[in-house]
Amino acid sequence: SEQIKTTVSVTVVGASGDLAKKKIFPALFALYYENFLPEHFTIFGYARSKMSDEELRNMISKTLTCRIDKRENCGDKMEKFLQRCFYQSGQYYSEENFKELDKKLKEREAGKVPNRLFYLSIPPNIFVDVVRCATYGASSPTGWTRVIVEKPFGRDSESSRELTASLKQYLTEDQIFRIDHYLGKELVENLSVLRFSNLVFEPLWSRQYIRNVQLIFSEDFGTEGRGGYFDSYGIIRDIMQNHLLQILALFAMETPVSLDAEDIRNEKVKVLKSMRPLEIEDVVVGQYKGHSKGGKSYPSYTDDPKVPNNSLTPTFAAAALFIDNARWDGVPFLMKAGKALHSNGAEIRVQFRHVPGNLYRRNFGTYLDKNTNELVIRVQPNEAIYLKINNKVPGLGMRLDRSNLNLLYSAKYSREIPDAYERLLLDAIEGERRLFIRSDELDAAWALFTPVLKELEEKHVFPELYPFGSRGPVGAHYLAAKYNVRWGDLS
Ligand code: BG6
Repeated sequence: SEQIKTTVSVTVVGASGDLAKKKIFPALFALYYENFLPEHFTIFGYARSKMSDEELRNMISKTLTCRIDKRENCGDKMEKFLQRCFYQSGQYYSEENFKELDKKLKEREAGKVPNRLFYLSIPPNIFVDVVRCATYGASSPTGWTRVIVEKPFGRDSESSRELTASLKQYLTEDQIFRIDHYLGKELVENLSVLRFSNLVFEPLWSRQYIRNVQLIFSEDFGTEGRGGYFDSYGIIRDIMQNHLLQILALFAMETPVSLDAEDIRNEKVKVLKSMRPLEIEDVVVGQYKGHSKGGKSYPSYTDDPKVPNNSLTPTFAAAALFIDNARWDGVPFLMKAGKALHSNGAEIRVQFRHVPGNLYRRNFGTYLDKNTNELVIRVQPNEAIYLKINNKVPGLGMRLDRSNLNLLYSAKYSREIPDAYERLLLDAIEGERRLFIRSDELDAAWALFTPVLKELEEKHVFPELYPFGSRGPVGAHYLAAKYNVRWGDLS
């Protein structure tokens, strides 16, 4: 019997925005280049401005790169890819305009089962309008219709629930793909492999052997050009409540029944629900301050024209979180996230307890506590996993030092690491939900941060100012010290 042919279309709503240009179109091209897209696929850009197909192609082509293989017929492939891209101009609240899109989609889908994916690359205040119009005007009549949304998913528990409820007037939970792009990062995905398929790790993965866990995010640039968005969210909502908490959940969850999306997400929800909401005594907030150094001047956060001069929005935060279950009772999970710091990167650092009755305690040059094992997962840049171990310095004496067992990705693997959006777009096309956030998971995540966010705002807590390019507020060190922790330095 003849197989029923299907088509997939991806409509990028907000096609001329930054995210679309920098991430979504390039990721789609990379998937095409590597032959991961279905045989029959079409890409549509949808936005308000008037543009021809040619103009869209021209715009997209500027950000496509042949990063995968610079020599082999990349130009050709790019041309072929661009021929599959089309444009529809329309208002975000117009059912009519989405019907026009529907008509154009149908022309490309003729005779096949049409599957349609919408990527909402637009501000959150128009999510619901677009979903209403897109589902009314351009749902697939016989195939699937899926919608990818990207944070912010509200700004606290209530607004997030409201958004979820509004979206669910038009979509089922199964049709909503909430992206957290950190889940698409190679080393975050690898976390489960590392833990569940290596005997040397999982048995140690508990309060019995782990002293603390640190989740560190650091950028060496400010909010440049994004001050408008950033000021109504701040770093806790921008990074901690989603990216770092997602890593924490994957890190700390119990073993899922299987690798099925529902099984994994059930475990993530469970661990999130076992956590204590963050308390104000366990959070330090900061904001960067400009200065000049070596003839160069660095701006303050409040120099951004879209940020009010008296803004108290944190651009830095450190927090101590706790999981009140049998596995993690008493282990501090420390998070640190900041913009305009001295370094750029994201890491998970696992500090182990000291060896009881260590025979070599006298042979360390420094305190024993500083010489415990540490597992570092460097999510970016220079992706790596390394384990700090104590080792004898070669020679006739007996001196120990700490050395790294080091898995540096660039040395071990010649393949380039795909961008997070490639993995996530491919999964959404294939209907794989493992790396997307389920609504109960989102709810549990907000429950941890909403009370403290409200309290910080109600009490007008002043962020500690830190110089642009510094290591951030000293308060972060006191917070760590309170739990007997020293921050690891981003390597
Ligand atoms: C986004 C935040 O989700 O992640 C940004 O809104 C941040 O503020 C970005 O810069 C960091 O992502 P990446 O992949 O560059 O580490």
